[in-house]
Amino acid sequence: MKSTIVSIVATISLIIAGTSLAADMPTAGKAKCGTCHAIDKKTIGPSYMDISAKYKGDNDAASKIAANITKGGSFDWKLGKMPPKGLGANDADIKAMSEYIAGLAK
Ligand code: HEC
Repeated sequence: MKSTIVSIVATISLIIAGTSLAADMPTAGKAKCGTCHAIDKKTIGPSYMDISAKYKGDNDAASKIAANITKGGSFDWKLGKMPPKGLGANDADIKAMSEYIAGLAK
């Protein structure tokens, strides 16, 4: 009986942990940005952590990041050019990704 309760509790905490991990990066991030960006290392583009650090303390970080994702191009990272909206991100994807990136350095 006791072990049943323990395993139920363990299962519930696994479900909760899994949910918060999945909530970490918006799903669009992998499909539409992941070719060029990783969370914590530079690949083709800068890491989301580095981008977040660039905007740390800026109250408008998310909207500035969203504007740059939408227009694409160069932003002084000297890594080349980003295609506007990445690989076909829509406005909702861009908003979700911008808020996610802005939140990393806090
Ligand atoms: C084909 C590759 C590619 C894809 C796909 C791509 N990026 Fe980029 N991204 C880049 C490169 C390269 C840079 C750096 C440009 C430079 O050197 O300034 C960059 C820069 C950025 C920046 C920095 C903006 C700033 O203000 O400094 C953000 C934010 C960003 N990307 C987000 C995204 C998001 C979100 C997606 C998906 C919707 C995405 N990128 C898809 C290549 C890509």
